[in-house]
Amino acid sequence: MTIENTMRINGGIPLNGTIKTQGAKNAALPVMAVCLLLRGQTLTLDNVPDLYDINTMIELLKALGVEIEINRDEKTSQVIFHVPEELKWEVSETLARKMRASSLVLGPLLANCGKVSLPLPGGCSIGSRPIDLHLKGLKQMGAEIEIQNGIVYAKIRGKLRGRRIYLDFPSVGATENLMMAASLASGETIIENIAREPEIDNLATTLRCIGVPVELEGTGGVRIQGIDKAHSGRDRVIPDRIEACTYMLAGVMTNGHIKIEDVVPSHIDAILAKLEESGAKFSVKKHVVEIFPSKRKLHPVSIKTMPYPGFPTDSQPQMAAALSIAKGVSTIEESVFQARFLYAQELNRMGADIQISRDIAIIRGVDKLQGAVVKATDLRAGAALIMAGLAAEGETIVEDMVHVWRGYEAIDKKLRALGAQVELI
Ligand code: EPZ
Repeated sequence: MTIENTMRINGGIPLNGTIKTQGAKNAALPVMAVCLLLRGQTLTLDNVPDLYDINTMIELLKALGVEIEINRDEKTSQVIFHVPEELKWEVSETLARKMRASSLVLGPLLANCGKVSLPLPGGCSIGSRPIDLHLKGLKQMGAEIEIQNGIVYAKIRGKLRGRRIYLDFPSVGATENLMMAASLASGETIIENIAREPEIDNLATTLRCIGVPVELEGTGGVRIQGIDKAHSGRDRVIPDRIEACTYMLAGVMTNGHIKIEDVVPSHIDAILAKLEESGAKFSVKKHVVEIFPSKRKLHPVSIKTMPYPGFPTDSQPQMAAALSIAKGVSTIEESVFQARFLYAQELNRMGADIQISRDIAIIRGVDKLQGAVVKATDLRAGAALIMAGLAAEGETIVEDMVHVWRGYEAIDKKLRALGAQVELI
């Protein structure tokens, strides 16, 4: 795991070549937490990406007593979780605050051990990120929860009880936590207005592989029959749709010719629709997206981020970078997070013309970006700055790359494989 903190990019080179997507970070994190529903059994996961956040989750699960085997080589990236009969139930402060997704151990640990103490995940640069919907659902299932000194103490006498739960917002994390909690509850749980991201489907298949009957309903609901004891299982992490979009847009911005393999086209419908609308040249064949050079600049488009299947908030900074060198004036409205435009001032240092008014970014296309020294403020902002550096004239230095290593496996190697001049310093 490289943790060099700065990337130097020599821009203006059209990307050319073929890369393959990693396993999805936001699918791997919840399906790894599924192992906490086991007692004395094993969960095997394939296609687990090698990322900072994945390693943090591995450390967190080890600290709870899970023995973890990692088998990685060119072809395989497999992680095997050997779960003891008795798990620990206190989550360490340092690990919990390193990654917000630590909140995903709450549901499975409470369901399996009957108690959990979990430091409240911190906010981050894209908003406050509370977990009130997670806690509200667990309370409805009978959990006693109190928060003291920034730590969530949850406990249940006996078992969680199956309930009908309505989510006020289709929160991805709350959906995942409650699906895992329902797996060992007594009786049936129905959760309405759930998140419909592909990562939720992945979680459903992993729960099924350890013996939990899960039925996803087209109406945005899920029905789960609680079981007494789960059994060992094996599943695979889906491809990373956000990583795929990032490289697709890098191909468009540098006017390159690239192929991205192991993509699930239905997972990126919203992005493909916006690329089509903006006049980008691409083709989708089975699981390969091919980006072609185009003589014309992108047309301006208007975007509003929405829960899946809407335009994904996680691709919003990357799209803003691509639109910063499109024709005309584009707008992006961020409706999922409170403040996800910190990257705009960094792009403006590279010559972009982006104005933010409340939750809308107004992007006036400029002819070219110029290389500059910029700072990554969060994972997807960092990716957007790297893409801007690839398209800009001259040299760009992206600092605080630690954010980017959380979600982009070997991004320097992948970009060099596409002919980019990038190096870690
Ligand atoms: C997941 O975060 C992803 N992270 C995020 O990806 C992604 O942006 C987000 O879903 C939306 O798609 C992982 O899967 C690890 P939410 P999560 O609960 O679960 C509010 C990335 O870059 N909310 O759907 O935290 C919340 O504040 C990351 O890979 C509550 O108010 O997202 C936010 O405004 C960034 N109360 C909105 O809902 C709650 O109890 C969406 O949050 C929960 C959420």
